[in-house]
Amino acid sequence: MTPHPGVNILFGQNGSGKTNLLEAIHYCALGRSHRTSQDKEVVAKGAEMAAVGVQLQKSSVRMDIQVKLTPNDGKKKSVFVDRKRAARLSDLMGHVQCVIFSPEDLMLVKEGPSIRRRYLDMMLSQLSTAYFTALQQYQKALDQRNALLREAKKGIRLDAAMMDAFEEVMADQCAVIIPLRRRMVAHTGFIAGEKYAAISGRENEAFMMAYECCVPEGEDVIAYAREELRDSRQEDVFRGSTSFGIHREDIALTLKGREMKVFASQGQIRTAALSMKLAQLEVFRGETGEAPILLLDDVMSELDMTRRTRLLEEISGVQTFITCTDESDLEGCRERRSYQVSMDDAGFGHVQEASAGAKVSTEDDLMDDFDFD
Ligand SMILES: Nc1ncnc2c1ncn2[C@@H]1O[C@H](COP(=O)(O)OP(=O)(O)OP(=O)(O)O)[C@@H](O)[C@H]1O
Ligand SMILES: [Mg+2]
Repeated sequence: MTPHPGVNILFGQNGSGKTNLLEAIHYCALGRSHRTSQDKEVVAKGAEMAAVGVQLQKSSVRMDIQVKLTPNDGKKKSVFVDRKRAARLSDLMGHVQCVIFSPEDLMLVKEGPSIRRRYLDMMLSQLSTAYFTALQQYQKALDQRNALLREAKKGIRLDAAMMDAFEEVMADQCAVIIPLRRRMVAHTGFIAGEKYAAISGRENEAFMMAYECCVPEGEDVIAYAREELRDSRQEDVFRGSTSFGIHREDIALTLKGREMKVFASQGQIRTAALSMKLAQLEVFRGETGEAPILLLDDVMSELDMTRRTRLLEEISGVQTFITCTDESDLEGCRERRSYQVSMDDAGFGHVQEASAGAKVSTEDDLMDDFDFD
């Protein structure tokens, strides 16, 4: 495929391979799938390996990225940047930023806090090494504290000095994590609110994100966290887990001041989740000066015509890959290229540029292009 720098529409029947194609792009950007942590799940049934490659053009730089999965070999995953094997997966990071919206992302609004914390952690970890390190140290100390709690529940005496030590690490890391989370929620919340308003076209439908922090504003984070952790020891032994901390925080999502999870309609939930993802894109763009690639899987269903048209306006200027079952879903889109995705009886995927009518690539062409090792 030679995609358009603007909107690329991938249309085809259910099960034809549209999500598969987005997943392939995601692999080239982040070295992993967006829907599974198990690389072997994406290798075709019966095949030994999967491989995907992109050539990308960023201002004046051309770059070649390939990812090869060989689940049955010692080295299960290999990444090649400009045909040279990258030592670590992290060598891939930073070359291509990408933001994906898929049906699973509706969980951002519908499900429990952990998914919203992941949204925050993912953004902050990519933008701040200090955050990433603090989060890792916090998690380690939390695991250690929880292990002691579980032992205490079985009757082993709680070692107060050890508890002090773990709680000190947790409190110190809270002091790094909380201010960054606070700023990030305020920043993304502001942008997401604007995106929601732009897509819905409704002034009176205010979408808001609010940080539900474990430390009240104005309190000294370290002192407050240490005291809370110490005071909750007995209760935590009984529960067998730690009740206070940043691992229990949440982002409250409201529409017109009411909690979205219990109150919002399907289309409103979709618009909110989408706005949160578009906010993420803007945060990355602000940080790097370049818009990430946007992957939108099945985004149009449940959105009314106004929202569809306005969404397309919102994404102009960003290279986007967007899937739908019917090309006419995206008629309002001018700067675009359409591809029909299909799967033949043998299970091979085909991508055909719809306007030109020519076959753009087949599985075989793609594999011929690879020059691993
Ligand atoms: N490991 C695998 N090996 C072989 N086939 C697979 C594997 N994993 C998924 N498939 C098949 O690949 C096909 C393409 O799936 P994909 O999710 O890309 O379809 P889609 O075009 O996005 O469909 P929908 O419109 O329903 O979202 C499906 O038929 C699926 O069953
Ligand atoms: Mg799909």
